[in-house]
Amino acid sequence: MKLQTRLALAGQETDGTYRSVVPPIYQSAIFKFENPDTKPDYDYSRSGNPGRNALEEVLADLEGGAGAVATSSGMSAVTTVLGLYDADAHILCSHDCYGGTERLLTVWARQGRLKVSFVDLTDVRAVEAAIRPGTKAIWAETPSNPLLRIIDLAAVSTVAKRHGLELIVDNTFLSPLFQRPFEFGADLIVHSTTKYLNGHSDIVGGAVVARTEERAADIRFTSNALGLTAAPFDSWLLVRGLKTLPLRLRQHEENAFAVARFLAEHDAVDKVFYPGLETHVGHDIARRQQSGFGGIVSFRLKGTGADARRVLGATRVFALAESLGGVESLIEQPATMSHASMRPEQRAEAGITEQIIRLSVGIEDTSDLLADLELALSRVETGVLV
Ligand SMILES: Cc1ncc(COP(=O)(O)O)c(C=O)c1O
Repeated sequence: MKLQTRLALAGQETDGTYRSVVPPIYQSAIFKFENPDTKPDYDYSRSGNPGRNALEEVLADLEGGAGAVATSSGMSAVTTVLGLYDADAHILCSHDCYGGTERLLTVWARQGRLKVSFVDLTDVRAVEAAIRPGTKAIWAETPSNPLLRIIDLAAVSTVAKRHGLELIVDNTFLSPLFQRPFEFGADLIVHSTTKYLNGHSDIVGGAVVARTEERAADIRFTSNALGLTAAPFDSWLLVRGLKTLPLRLRQHEENAFAVARFLAEHDAVDKVFYPGLETHVGHDIARRQQSGFGGIVSFRLKGTGADARRVLGATRVFALAESLGGVESLIEQPATMSHASMRPEQRAEAGITEQIIRLSVGIEDTSDLLADLELALSRVETGVLV
């Protein structure tokens, strides 16, 4: 069966008793033993829960891995992976990775729980140069946030293999439908399922998928030991969300393309960042390693930070909110919102000025999205404050 069919049928085999088509929610922390000597399939929901395990099978299937764990947040997924390494392990991480990942790596490095270097992974020579005797893994996030830089996964994987390093890919921005990191040599894949995989902005969740059985056992152990696994109801909502992932992504992408083209033609806009546009610096690599370009579009206004705030305050369809990947369109200013925790020098180095606006383009009617942006951008031209 094709992926879209497998997703539509996901979870149907969970209920052996009544054979419900929609999987039941086992909202129970504990399960009874028949006797003290025989361990049941499930005993305690941190270690295992039927609904969560059904979800984990779907996640492993989606990415083409040997096994997966569903976690309570994307950051729990990041923590699960970092928990695999010893304190003397050195990790190379994308210099413009998600702020929460950067924060955790930096704090843990300061506390002596691991070692980290932030490197521009689009520069393979810089990656090679940053590797040292204790380096154990490369952490790649592509496309990056908010400027959608593209890392060449095959090239980074070649370096990783040559030095015996694991390659970890945060695949949140594209989902396995548009990017399949195992096919480019990744060993572990991380997701914030809060975003596209769930798609309805009603849970915070995460996942780690492992390429090998051995690493699958490791992530199960670590997520359970650290207490990071997902709750039964969130797991149920995520299975429900996954069923429509292919349909949602098609509409996200169609709308994102329309928005990117519209912005590229607009007088108030200095530059558009969308890997689907031929003008995007990573377009050729994106075409090679992705089967879609996703639903995130960022752009830089010609005006000032104040002009950007005029636009942010003027949209009616695009809601002013952080996060991304839900059915509803969102608008935000990374410098003051999603990336506010970065140090100003770091933000400047990453090109995140106050004129940059990030859109998570939803699945609404395209014409409503374009009309909303047209109206909001006219505030820059007229100087009207809202
Ligand atoms: C790329 C990426 N990875 C990880 C995370 C962390 O996920 P969560 O917010 O679900 O903990 C996020 C959140 O925005 C993200 O964008």
